[in-house]
Amino acid sequence: MSQTAATRQLRAREYLMVPPENFAVEYEINPWMDTSTEVDARLAVKQWEALKDALISKGHTVHTLVPEKGLPDMVFAANGAFTVDGVAYGAKFKYPQRSDEAKAHREFYESRDWTFRAPTLTNEGEGDFAYANGLILAGYGFRTDVTAHAEAQEALQRPVVSLKLVDPRFYHLDTALAALDDDNITYYPQAFSEASQRVLRQLFPDALIADEEDAEAFALNLVSDGLNVFLNTESVGMATKVMDRGYVPVLTDLSELKKGGGSVKCCIAELRR
Ligand code: ARG
Repeated sequence: MSQTAATRQLRAREYLMVPPENFAVEYEINPWMDTSTEVDARLAVKQWEALKDALISKGHTVHTLVPEKGLPDMVFAANGAFTVDGVAYGAKFKYPQRSDEAKAHREFYESRDWTFRAPTLTNEGEGDFAYANGLILAGYGFRTDVTAHAEAQEALQRPVVSLKLVDPRFYHLDTALAALDDDNITYYPQAFSEASQRVLRQLFPDALIADEEDAEAFALNLVSDGLNVFLNTESVGMATKVMDRGYVPVLTDLSELKKGGGSVKCCIAELRR
């Protein structure tokens, strides 16, 4: 039976974000980044504030880290770790330009009541790990090393399912797949290898299937609380699709951050207790 907004329920969440005060496109490590593009960091901060306010207005708690100079991608907080059951598995960035970000995230968890497990293998946190149905869905192919999936399983004691990403535009799992609630996901099939598409069909036969336009709009880069689906304003097709499934789209313009190759989800790490 299909659900409506009246029957879906949100679960209050805890999130971690980093303001984009130092946001810039100073290097090119994904196909969306172009160092000749002008970036308006002040507008980026305004847009980011609106996203943060939208989360708070729906009853969620947002923690923030202090942004650091020389780390222009630090706004993409999702990449700093992956958490589940009160355990944080730390990130180890692929590119040296971002590697110092991991320390700030580690300090956040270590100074609070989290168990922090340090990584030895390259992985970009929630950029390549998602959580649904008691499973950790894990992407590889561009950033996270597939060997880190096994390390994550040992660290987090949850089954990890490896999924191969094949389209460089969708270089992190969170650009191609998102959890909509505790049991269901949405994804863009063509971002995955044929075999991984088959695996996703087996695990999530009722998944909301996205198309290329959704993926290019960074519509899969969403955050959902089980009822409200936080999307960027370009995601018009996805907004309709989630509404048809009984979710409530909440739209924020994140045009500046798209220049860095990220959107809603990239800015938000979920802290799962
Ligand atoms: N410029 C950043 C990078 O290429 C963007 C990261 C986007 N984050 C994400 N979770 N997909 O690393």
